[in-house]
Amino acid sequence: MPQPNAVRCLVVDDEPRLRRVLVRLLEGEGFTCMEAGSGTEALELLQQERVPLVISDLRMPQMDGVTLLREIVARWPDTAVIVVTAVAEVESAVACLQLGALDYVAKPFHLDEVRARVMQALDKRRLTLEVEDYRRTLERRVQEQAHRIEELSLERLQALVHFLEEKDPYTRGHSVRVADYSARIGRAMALPQPVLDSIALGAELHDIGKIGVSEAVLHKPGKLSDAEYRHIMEHPAIGARILAPLMREAPAALAIVRSHHERLDGKGFPDGLKGDEIPLEVRVVTVADSFDAMTSVRPYRPALSVAKALQELEEGKGRQFHTPAVEAFLAAFPDQATLPVTNPEIRPLHLPSPVPEALHRAAPPPD
Ligand SMILES: [Fe+2]
Repeated sequence: MPQPNAVRCLVVDDEPRLRRVLVRLLEGEGFTCMEAGSGTEALELLQQERVPLVISDLRMPQMDGVTLLREIVARWPDTAVIVVTAVAEVESAVACLQLGALDYVAKPFHLDEVRARVMQALDKRRLTLEVEDYRRTLERRVQEQAHRIEELSLERLQALVHFLEEKDPYTRGHSVRVADYSARIGRAMALPQPVLDSIALGAELHDIGKIGVSEAVLHKPGKLSDAEYRHIMEHPAIGARILAPLMREAPAALAIVRSHHERLDGKGFPDGLKGDEIPLEVRVVTVADSFDAMTSVRPYRPALSVAKALQELEEGKGRQFHTPAVEAFLAAFPDQATLPVTNPEIRPLHLPSPVPEALHRAAPPPD
């Protein structure tokens, strides 16, 4: 009598009498069986229901057992297959083992032998699945740890950026304010969360390349020479080089670091990107960065008023700045008296979550 939670299996043989013998034996062992009279029929049944065990004859019309085995191994690799062969077909049986069958039984078979082979095959399958599951768990943990290590490194870099900015009265709080303005622009544009995450990460670290710029040039009062201006404008490319190994999982954030001085009209740095060549995340941060730069004191000029800075953004629409990002900025701050922000929120940095490959894989059929 089949058990309600019994292991499901599929018996494939074109001879109904032999099929019945196997089914009776397996049901006696507590299995519940489906039956197929050909390889084609077996594949149709497996398509409807995956089973952990298939016992198949080798010689069958339409589709022989070897073709069926190949199909099962390719499409349902977690299924254990035992082939039934005639004694004279031992070579075919060995070939089947090489193709992925877990075992074979030779006709005429003893029921005890079939029983033992079935149990062994299921044990082997269970062990294989356990090892595979362990490997996937281990792989996921390694990925999570690598992700965390990269995040910790980014947090250290964030602390370094804040430290460098704090030392300098002209740049104090710049990155945090840019991240805050960018987040508000992104939300006003109703951008999806992964895009907002990239913006938060890239905006906080966008100026990290200034580590590689001479302090004398950075703090020079008065007008910069062309050479000095070019030297300062190396900071986006330097920043991208510093962060590239840590931001393999966050290419959009890395693009913000490299391209935050690009302009829609192609007159920006360092690559002279134009229009849509500049990623959306970058276009958002550029508006925030420019507004904060304009409303901050610089060694060579006083801060612009909020009204004047907003006017500059308006006038730069479509030429320097992405029009929807400027409009989103204006919508996010309907009251100009709240600008510039005085207490921007410092948020911990996060890389976009990795999606482990294991999550994409379907679970094996239940036993
Ligand atoms: Fe910059």
